[in-house]
Parts: sequence; C-alpha cells; structure tokens
Amino acid sequence: MKLKLFVTGGAGFIGSNFIRIALETQDYNIVNYDKLTYAGNLENLKDLENNESYIFYKGDITDFDSLNEVYQKEKFDVIINFAAETHVDRSINNSYPFIHTNVLGTQALLELAREAKITRFIQISTDEVYGSLPETGKFTEESPLKPNSPYSASKASADLLVRAYYKTYKIPAIITRCSNNYGPYQFPEKLIPLVILNAIRNKDIPVYGDGKNIRDWIYVEDHCKAILKILENGVDGEIYNIGANCEKQNIDIVRLILKILGRDNSLIKFVKDRPAHDRRYAIDSRKINEQLGWYPETLFEDGIKRTINWYRENQNWVNNILTREYFEYYKKQYETRLGEILNE
Ligand code: NAD
Ligand code: DAU
Repeated sequence: MKLKLFVTGGAGFIGSNFIRIALETQDYNIVNYDKLTYAGNLENLKDLENNESYIFYKGDITDFDSLNEVYQKEKFDVIINFAAETHVDRSINNSYPFIHTNVLGTQALLELAREAKITRFIQISTDEVYGSLPETGKFTEESPLKPNSPYSASKASADLLVRAYYKTYKIPAIITRCSNNYGPYQFPEKLIPLVILNAIRNKDIPVYGDGKNIRDWIYVEDHCKAILKILENGVDGEIYNIGANCEKQNIDIVRLILKILGRDNSLIKFVKDRPAHDRRYAIDSRKINEQLGWYPETLFEDGIKRTINWYRENQNWVNNILTREYFEYYKKQYETRLGEILNE
C-alpha cells in the first residue's frame, strides 16, 4: 500500500514544491488541503491536476470538523503541516490571522492526529523561532526560543504545542526548522522574488535599514528533499534544523540579482527598517547531516540563476499574481515603504 500524505498549505510556495518533488521521486498518494489565502495558488500545481496520486481539498486547518471529514474520506497516514501565515511584515501590521492559523490551526491538526491513525506528524517550523544572532555562532536545535515578531512568536507557540502533544499523547511528531527558502513559485512579497520582479520591470527596490541583515539561504528543492528524508528516517519527538550554510547580507543579494539582470544599482532604495528586524540568522544543520545523511545539493550561485530564469520564463504566473486583487494589499505596503526612503 502506498503511504498517503496529508499536506496542508500545499498551494503555497514550499508546499507546492514539496508535492511536486514528492510525486516525482517517491511512490506516495498526496492529499493537499489548503484554504487558498492570498498566498495559496492552485496555478502552482496545475501540472498535477490529472495526476491520480494527487487530490486537492479547499479547507481551513483551524476547522476541526472539516479536517475530520477529509480524514474519514481519505484515511491518510501522515500529516505534514506547511499551512501558515508566513510574512513577517504582515504579522507586524495585524497579528490576528497569524495567531489564529499558526497556533489554533496547529492545535486542530494535533487534535485530529490524536483521533486518527497517524504514523507521522511533521510540523514545518522555521529558524525564526530562535530570534536573532550576534556576528558569530549558529542556531542549534538546543538554542532557546526567542521570537521577535508576531509571526515567529506564533510559530514558536505552535512548536511548543507539538512538543506537548508528543509528550502527553505520544503523537509521533517531528519539528523541522529551516532557514530562508528561495526558488520558483514564491509569492513576490518576500525579498528575492520581489527584487527579481522589480528589477525586470525597472522598478525601485526597497531595502530595509542598512541592508546588512544576514539571512541563511537554501534552495527550496533542498528543503523539500530534507523533509522527505525526515519523513522516511526521522525520529519521533526530535527537532531537525535545515540549512545550507549560505549566509548573505540582503544588500549583496540585491546587487547580485541586479547584476545578473543587467540592471543599475540606482534602483536600490534604502527605506525605514522593519521593527525588531532580526539582524542575523545562521543554521547549524549538523544533526540532519550526520544522523539522516541529508546534505543540500544546490549552490546559491546556481539556485539564484535558476530562480531568476523561472520568473523570467513564467510571465503568465507572474501576471496572474500581479493582477489578482490580493496583491493590492502588498502594493499599498510597498508604496508606504518607498515613501519612507532614507538615502535619496
Ligand atoms: P506561503 O505563504 O507561500 O504558503 C502558505 C500556504 O498556507 C498558502 O497556500 C495558504 O493558502 C495556506 N494557508 C494559510 N492559512 C491556512 C489555513 N488556515 N488553512 C489552510 N491553509 C492555509 O508559505 P511558505 O513560504 O510556503 O511556507 C510554508 C511553511 O514553511 C510555513 O509554515 C512557514 O512558516 C515555513 N517556513 C517558510 C520558510 C520560507 O523561507 N518561506 C522558511 C522556513 C519555514
Ligand atoms: O528564516 C525563515 C523565514 O524566512 C520564514 O520563516 C518566513 O516565513 C519567511 O518569510 C522568511 O522571513 P524573512 O523575514 O527573513 O523574509 P523576507 O523575504 O520578508 O525578508 C528577508 C530579508 O530581507 C529581511 O532581512 C528583510 C529584508 N527585506 C525584505 C523585503 C520584503 C528588505 O530589505 N526589503 C523588502 O522589501
């Protein structure tokens, strides 16, 4: 019997990449369950519409009855929870949807896992739960949780619930904490797709603060392969950090993308900083390397070119996103940022 995965948030950036890679490389059945918020886009999985191993349900992870109804129909074996509100800036503007989906949604899924016959529950968390690093050191799985934004606080809260359900009810749960992803299908409110699309269209690029904040980048396919490895060989109750040893200052990424696209650095506009902007992230992923034998495969220089080419070649996807109503919110935020230029 094929293992049946219940993937929540599968119409988003990482979830859709995960579903595609899982179906290409493994023999699974996949049930994708997604609310289709502004960040969810079924276009991301258009090529799988007629795939017999794949089925989509529209639904909200905070709705236990709906989750249970799908479970009664599908009797899946594994839950992988990607569904979340994910953008830090939005969480600063309005934290309610973040606490609702990220905390209560995780609780509802854990309650489902108590009743259903689940062999594995994977909570897709983030390195942001650890807070910010000084110039040296890396986050390990033992680093304290010190979230600084409503988004990261909601993800840390969910992690604590997962831990508690593992301890109390023996839910076979695992938590993954990955660094910043980039690659195809990422909604262009996040740094890399935003810079690519603005550069292509010769539009200004807002860089927060001094641009020297550091993020640790991983190509989305490498993250997805790490999750597959954890699905097969991970140990219940464990936390696995996932990263590719690729620290970069934001400003260097912006300049690199402009260079690859043959655009001038004058498009860069330093704007007012994000409140409580984490200075540096860096992930120590020796545990997953040594215990599960997972290593990243994509060098940043290759991954970023593949990503840029993907956005160049998928103009229909881009135009569809840019003209959708939900993009209006982003445009307003973006204009406010550009109204707060620091260095002109
Ligand atoms: P995304 O914003 O692109 O996608 C989120 C998806 O969740 C969307 O399809 C959305 O419709 C769905 N969703 C939101 N609320 C829902 C609800 N209540 N019920 C059902 N579906 C709902 O996010 P992403 O970047 O793909 O991130 C996926 C997961 O990975 C998140 O849990 C995020 O915290 C985590 N993560 C992201 C990164 C990153 O760099 N993007 C890094 C580490 C971890
Ligand atoms: O570390 C993992 C996290 O990475 C995930 O958990 C989050 O879901 C994901 O959104 C991402 O969070 P960040 O805040 O790091 O990503 P974002 O793309 O929003 O910002 C990356 C960096 O670039 C950050 O230092 C802020 C800066 N930035 C961002 C935007 C959108 C800018 O300077 N200008 C911008 O316009």
